[in-house]
Amino acid sequence: MNPAPNLVLVGPMGAGKSSIGKRLAGRFGLAFVDADREIEARTGASVATIFECEGEAGFRAREAAALEALLQREGLVVATGGGAVLDPGSRERMRARGFVVHLQVSLARQLERLARDRSRPLLAGDDREQVLRRLSELRAPLYAEVADLCFDTDALFPPQAAAQLARLL
Ligand code: S3P
Repeated sequence: MNPAPNLVLVGPMGAGKSSIGKRLAGRFGLAFVDADREIEARTGASVATIFECEGEAGFRAREAAALEALLQREGLVVATGGGAVLDPGSRERMRARGFVVHLQVSLARQLERLARDRSRPLLAGDDREQVLRRLSELRAPLYAEVADLCFDTDALFPPQAAAQLARLL
């Protein structure tokens, strides 16, 4: 296993960061943390409520603060939110305190995996396809900037993806 203090998973919604991250943590005997759940625990409100009350900017500030605290720890597998890479300080800290894996997924597979999800505020509108395409265009260079390794989850269920990825780490 790579010697970095933490394993950090980045990538878009529906890439499998949480489902694969949990399994990787189990395999390596590390603790798993989903950054969105950590933000909710620290705030006492759901991601949707934070977006509603404080806007995306408020959520991003909470996201950066939660990641900063998490990355001070060691031995974690951290599933970050899809937009965590937007913050330059977070990108720097991920690289300084983690081995960063970019989980990749096609637009078609994202739409399929997220079809029944109603919890993500950025997907609340009608045209999910357009939103996801736009986010991908904006964020692709940021994922590339932070990633130590890219891994395509498109054709894999989480157990297979975790097994294959574990062999690369
Ligand atoms: C977001 C992704 C979500 C969550 C929030 C915003 C984004 O996390 O942080 O809804 O900006 O892409 P997941 O990537 O875990 O779905």
